[in-house]
Amino acid sequence: MNTVIEKTSETDIDMRIIRRAAEIIRDGGLVAFPTETVYGLGANALDGEAARKIYAAKGRPSDNPLIVHIADLKMLEPLVQEISPVAETLMKKFWPGPMTLIFKKSDIVPRQTTGGLDTVAVRYPSNQIALALIREAGTAIAAPSGNLSGRPSPTEGEHIIEDMNGRIDMIIDGGTVGMGLESTIVDVTVQPPMILRPGFITREMLRETVGEIDVDPAILKKPDAGFQPKAPGMKYRHYAPKADYQIYRGKIEKVAQAIIRAANEKAAQGFKTGVITVDEHQSLYTDKLHRDVIVVSMGSLKNPETVANHLFKVLRDFDKENAAFIFGEAFSEKHVGQAIMNRLTKAAGYQVIDL
Ligand code: TXA
Ligand code: MG
Repeated sequence: MNTVIEKTSETDIDMRIIRRAAEIIRDGGLVAFPTETVYGLGANALDGEAARKIYAAKGRPSDNPLIVHIADLKMLEPLVQEISPVAETLMKKFWPGPMTLIFKKSDIVPRQTTGGLDTVAVRYPSNQIALALIREAGTAIAAPSGNLSGRPSPTEGEHIIEDMNGRIDMIIDGGTVGMGLESTIVDVTVQPPMILRPGFITREMLRETVGEIDVDPAILKKPDAGFQPKAPGMKYRHYAPKADYQIYRGKIEKVAQAIIRAANEKAAQGFKTGVITVDEHQSLYTDKLHRDVIVVSMGSLKNPETVANHLFKVLRDFDKENAAFIFGEAFSEKHVGQAIMNRLTKAAGYQVIDL
């Protein structure tokens, strides 16, 4: 399939591009577009056949439901059965923004969009290109992250082109996204509400707004027969680089020592090897690593948002380098750290080594 690729910027949106993209959505086609979290792969959420095409383009299992994106609060009501007071409070505080809420779905939302579930995930993004596209299309847009299934989510135009060129009708390249982590998912069909996927909007922020909040215990643990995450997508190996990636957790001096030993061993055997650290710890590795080891800082501990911003890009860059092994430091699970560790733990296939 020939994919039309168009560039535009959030601060100076080319409406000709948006109108063309909106027409494709209305006609049942697929358009990738930037949001403030990651790039999405969109189709008309109310057209089951169009939503079905998303699964094919991504290579995504069809039991994994999509997130429905809206461009104002009025678009929510027809999609859901009820909006609880807790949901209202959360919407007022965090929409538009990186929060997805799970509601009981209405009849107009097709099961292809919800992966066969009776509930629907809805998000009101804040990215101006996403909003313009939804408004111009005149319909809610179902959009999972625009990566091929299993790969790290796309946070740059280059990533979405890499994964989707030739598979969909159009890509809107809006440059690098602002946040780099997918939205926080909160199930408001249960009381207290439950976080199904951590993100930029943290447990602490949600608690401050509505009081009690549960967290799906599956968020940081490996799913098994007795223990399945409530968001179907969270059970798949995900965000995975091609390399074997191990995370070391403990006192930083010990962690750095273990990483140096492991990385040097692999590099000496001739394997392309990488190390993931942070700005503050880089000096611990200076002059201690085999010269072929690639050391990358994911960001600064003083500003964990920078780690979130770079996380998927760093994993993709290691793929480009054809890294066979990656050894990395763990992060604190406070605040946005919970989302960071959730994504990294999955990327590592749950290989977290406590020292
Ligand atoms: O930031 C985001 O949320 C991005 C951008 C594009 O908006 N989208 C995104 O979509 O991350 P996706 O498809 O990659 O992840 C959606 C997650 C999956 O884990 C899926 O299982 C879960 O949301 N989900 C969707 N609908 C659900 C539902 N009705 N109940 C429980 N989980 C649901
Ligand atoms: Mg995804």
